[in-house]
Amino acid sequence: MSEPVLQANELTRHYAIKDGMFSPPKILKAVDGVSFSLVPGKTLAVVGESGCGKSTLGRLLTLIEPPTGGTFVLDGEPADIHDVGLVRRMRQTVQMIFQDPYGSLNPRKKVGTILEEPLIINTKMSKEDREAASRDMMTKVGLRPEHYNRYPHMFSGGQRQRIAIARALMLSPKVIVADEPVSALDVSIQAQVLNLLMDLQEDLGLAYLFISHDLSVVRHIANDVMVMYLGRPVEQGPNEAIFGKPIHPYTRALLASTPRVNPDDREERIVLTGELPSPLDPPSGCAFHKRCPFVQDRCRQEYPESREIEGRSVACHFAGEV
Ligand SMILES: Nc1ncnc2c1ncn2[C@@H]1O[C@H](COP(=O)(O)OP(=O)(O)O)[C@@H](O)[C@H]1O
Ligand code: SF4
Ligand SMILES: [Mg+2]
Repeated sequence: MSEPVLQANELTRHYAIKDGMFSPPKILKAVDGVSFSLVPGKTLAVVGESGCGKSTLGRLLTLIEPPTGGTFVLDGEPADIHDVGLVRRMRQTVQMIFQDPYGSLNPRKKVGTILEEPLIINTKMSKEDREAASRDMMTKVGLRPEHYNRYPHMFSGGQRQRIAIARALMLSPKVIVADEPVSALDVSIQAQVLNLLMDLQEDLGLAYLFISHDLSVVRHIANDVMVMYLGRPVEQGPNEAIFGKPIHPYTRALLASTPRVNPDDREERIVLTGELPSPLDPPSGCAFHKRCPFVQDRCRQEYPESREIEGRSVACHFAGEV
């Protein structure tokens, strides 16, 4: 297995939320102690209900959003999040692809201009070289290079997402954060864009942090899976472990609610009941305790630290017992 290109240790992102003029701000812990490694050619998928901190986590990796805590190891070298030089290195290493291929491309700019912008800002390439590089990249992502002078609105949704992918690749990043990259596309187009992402990963040795709420997609493409609940990972491990035998009650509930990935050897189905609690006022102890069918007194009082069980890490006091 290759060395990780990027490791994150105990990453946090807390927001101070003003709650009226006179009361002190409340702290919203959007990401609260998340650790993982990204390996060239491999995909780590991040799953969990809306609001659990997936997009915030993705933004932390590009430093678009500065973490409030944690450390990175970049290409084997420790990197302090307060180091000003880190921003430059991270932006060269990590690029993002977003869900919405309409909103993320400037409608007034031609494709060629969109693709060349990163080269203008970050390299000394000549106009001719930039154009050649853009046309090459268009071919690589399955666009026709003769459409170099077209505007984004002249392309379909799937083609626009290809433009966004091409733009992300112009500076030869090593890590791609893909935040729900196919969720906005027609189902018939989703597989094509996923296949393109997988082909590019293999050709270029890219590490992916793939954010998705679609577990059937995740099962298909992820090497490792991290399940998040209210800003924290509750279960994290290889695809086969998580999908083959989910252990955390929350993971089991998520999988049970997705018919196509529902593990059939489970005797007991966990149904996800109740609302996701507010991250401004998370439950004490285990954050999942208000929705967990196995809750005990200890769960309400004591936060369950992650521990290694059956080839993955799980944050549940009764992991493997319930
Ligand atoms: N800039 C921000 N200021 C305050 N709260 C934020 C900000 N960005 C995200 N949040 C909050 O952080 C939590 C996680 O959000 P997000 O990362 O978007 O979750 P997900 O992508 O899993 O749906 C949510 O409660 C959201 O309201
Ligand atoms: S710690 Fe308790 S409440 Fe939390 S998931 Fe485990 S059994 Fe359920
Ligand atoms: Mg999101």
